[in-house]
Amino acid sequence: MNSQTYSSPASIKVAVVGYGGAFNMGRQHLNEMKAAGMTPLAVVELDPKRLEVARADFHGIETYATVDELLARSAVDLVTVITPHNTHAELGLKIVSAGRHVVMEKPMALTTAECDALIAAAGRSGVVVSTYHNRHWDGCILRASEIVRSGALGEIVRIDLRMGQHARPGDWWRSSRSISGGVLYDWGVHLLEYSLQLITAPITEVSGYAWNGYWAGQPGFPWAQDANEDEAQATVRFASGQRLNLTITHLDAAPEHGFMKIVGTRATHVIESNGAETCTPGANGAVTIERAPHPKSQGEKFYQNMVAHLTAGESLVITGEWARRPIHVLDLAARSALEGRALTAVYG
Ligand SMILES: NC(=O)c1ccc[n+]([C@@H]2O[C@H](COP(=O)([O-])OP(=O)(O)OC[C@H]3O[C@@H](n4cnc5c(N)ncnc54)[C@H](O)[C@@H]3O)[C@@H](O)[C@H]2O)c1
Repeated sequence: MNSQTYSSPASIKVAVVGYGGAFNMGRQHLNEMKAAGMTPLAVVELDPKRLEVARADFHGIETYATVDELLARSAVDLVTVITPHNTHAELGLKIVSAGRHVVMEKPMALTTAECDALIAAAGRSGVVVSTYHNRHWDGCILRASEIVRSGALGEIVRIDLRMGQHARPGDWWRSSRSISGGVLYDWGVHLLEYSLQLITAPITEVSGYAWNGYWAGQPGFPWAQDANEDEAQATVRFASGQRLNLTITHLDAAPEHGFMKIVGTRATHVIESNGAETCTPGANGAVTIERAPHPKSQGEKFYQNMVAHLTAGESLVITGEWARRPIHVLDLAARSALEGRALTAVYG
């Protein structure tokens, strides 16, 4: 994939685009990249106040107001994009077209076509395009994968993913349809990425459903003309006959427990925020429930793998093609909801 290899982790000079204050993700990325051995070089941010915070966090860091300035003036090798979702594709394309490796925060982009364009442009430049799926190594999914591999669940029949409750969406960009991509594009991407580790068969078809207008019609709601769906759902059909249901809601006053339920032929595994339970049927309808806390998450492996890839040619875990899969589901689901019919996947 990448034509250049680096003599040491420290020789990989890194930058972030976006140093926002909501979760201090810019700081988190630079600290993780540093911990993996790479050298923080620059921060790009539209907001001058956030650039001041970056300069206080990383003494001597170069700062830029635009990604164009960064690409023209700095010797950066790898750039991580940590901006609102609708800006990802354009920023990512500029970076790979300038011959620099790019890590996109999730979601990689909003549409399949944008992902394909990014992957193709990175290929032409001989650089890496990846997506920061740090949650690939979350304790809950590491444990679920281990249980699935052990055969304890039998064959996976269905995965149900759900988050949310009857609650007003926040007054931030994540509630804007045109900026966020829709209500499924935040946590939905993580949940799909978890699931696609467990169901590996090709995606054949996606049905999307959406309910709109309830929260947008409430007094004072800031995104009245451009609000996310109140609730959206994607149902994914796989070539294996398996299926997956993803629901993110701001309307459900009686949510089920657990955000991920893996239904197998022999047992069902339910993941909640603070632990998981494996429910195994026995004789006479009795069900044994085994509860366990989540093991420690290992999100630091994302940049460790990136470094091993760039310095020693280790296989990249989160490739552009891998990150495209959840986006293809979300893109099809959004269009399916509008058209009112299931849509066929394109090399899903
Ligand atoms: N992986 C995770 O667990 C995780 C957690 C939180 C956020 N995220 C992702 O990180 C991304 C950013 O979210 P956030 O919560 O940090 O948002 P935020 O609003 O706190 O920060 C975004 C920053 O980007 C800046 N910005 C916007 N356009 C820019 C541009 N063209 N050039 C430079 N700077 C620009 C804004 O000024 C803002 O400071 C999103 O993709 C989000 O989904 C991922």
